[in-house]
Amino acid sequence: MNTKILVVEDQFIEADNLRSILRKGGYLVCKIARSVPEALQIIESEKPNLVLLDIYLKGELTGIDLAKILRDQQIAFVYLSANSNKQILDAAKATKPYGFLVKPFREKDVLVMLDVAWYLHRQNLGLSGSGKSGPGSQPAHDIKEIIGSSKSMNEVLNEVKIVGTSDISVLILGESGTGKELIAQNIHYISARKNKPFVAVNCAALPANLIESELFGHEKGAFTGAIDKRIGKFEQANEGTVFLDEIGELPLELQVKLLRVLQEKEIEPIGGRKKKVDVRIIAATNRDLEEEIAAGRFRLDLYYRINIFPITLPPLRERKEDIALLADHFVRIYARKENKIITEIADHVIQTLQNYDWPGNIRQLENIIARSVLLNNGPILEFLKLPGQNKSNVTLPETRIKSMTENERDHILLVLGQCNWRIYGQGGAAELLELNPSTLNSRMKKLGIEKKYFKHDSN
Ligand SMILES: Nc1ncnc2c1ncn2[C@@H]1O[C@H](COP(=O)(O)OP(=O)(O)OP(=O)(O)O)[C@@H](O)[C@H]1O
Ligand SMILES: [Mg+2]
Repeated sequence: MNTKILVVEDQFIEADNLRSILRKGGYLVCKIARSVPEALQIIESEKPNLVLLDIYLKGELTGIDLAKILRDQQIAFVYLSANSNKQILDAAKATKPYGFLVKPFREKDVLVMLDVAWYLHRQNLGLSGSGKSGPGSQPAHDIKEIIGSSKSMNEVLNEVKIVGTSDISVLILGESGTGKELIAQNIHYISARKNKPFVAVNCAALPANLIESELFGHEKGAFTGAIDKRIGKFEQANEGTVFLDEIGELPLELQVKLLRVLQEKEIEPIGGRKKKVDVRIIAATNRDLEEEIAAGRFRLDLYYRINIFPITLPPLRERKEDIALLADHFVRIYARKENKIITEIADHVIQTLQNYDWPGNIRQLENIIARSVLLNNGPILEFLKLPGQNKSNVTLPETRIKSMTENERDHILLVLGQCNWRIYGQGGAAELLELNPSTLNSRMKKLGIEKKYFKHDSN
């Protein structure tokens, strides 16, 4: 099982406790939200399958308000609460949750209730067993616009058009946050497969022993713990597109299996029979695959197979002319979300944005704008907020003339220092830097930053 779960809980200890229970139970905990607005942001970016939410939360909105939104979006949820009064419980029940967990709860109760909730939810949506659609596949209206008018982005847009109308494999290369997934979705939605599923698989987010069944499925009883038959992502995506994100992280033995699937166009579910599938592959990575090949971590034959049409996304610092456009785009989106009217971005803000190096690229710019929108009340956006800082009028640091690598190294060290060298979890360096922990680890390795032991990071 690798259901993605969001925990909405404002009590830190409680949340941390839940996180470790859920991880042990095989769930992927995407993030912990402390409030409803935070939860909504995470839901948009992470698209969890299940939400575990406290009824009482800090801020104006309660868990019940969030539950109504989840209901509308057909996301399964389970409440979590200490004993509440009858009125509140009735209001909560009216939102039709899949369950209530009353604090203090036992580990087993949490896992059983969530398993049941997830099962019922899939039944309700008519998904169980059919595997036609499911987590990871998205409706066409989800598609977001690609912003950018720099020369390098125009080239990318041209490539997207060319390759979109064909059916060949595409390899998207670029640093974290440069828009690899966005480009992959756009290619799918202009292709002839647009009315079929687009199924994304993040090869880095899955534990190695689950990837095979996640990709190719398994039969009931194929191995200990395989209580039900599982339809793999390749079969879910039949006639559509599989987006293999972070393909550089795929373990070698699965690279062999993937290669075979690509060559023979058939999958073999664990414990089951081979079946034909018709999928288009779009892969992405922020690693240098040639370097990975030289180091023996990536198979050359698979590389040839997927590297038919590479598209390289430029880092944001190399196309600074797009920064104002992107900032404007995100201000519009987030102002609308927050019901604010912001018509302009102050010149000094644009200047600061353009002077910054953007190690986290567009994702980082988007997040900074999202927070800044919250801080600004007038029609002109005047304040910026850096990740991990609490003061409201902090502007981004001026850049000295340092090399890109030096800058990146300094920045990572600074953030590591701020969070006591903790990488994982809420408030950990990976979150503050808005990177995947695996990406952060590999960057640290590359930059020669040695890890310091932190007790919660041992798993
Ligand atoms: N050109 C663009 N125009 C508008 N939004 C963009 C653009 N590029 C990226 N974004 C937005 O930035 C965010 C990050 O993009 P995306 O997830 O596609 O990046 P990524 O390269 O897959 O990153 P990672 O390696 O961290 O997974 C998304 O919210 C995406 O919609
Ligand atoms: Mg991505």
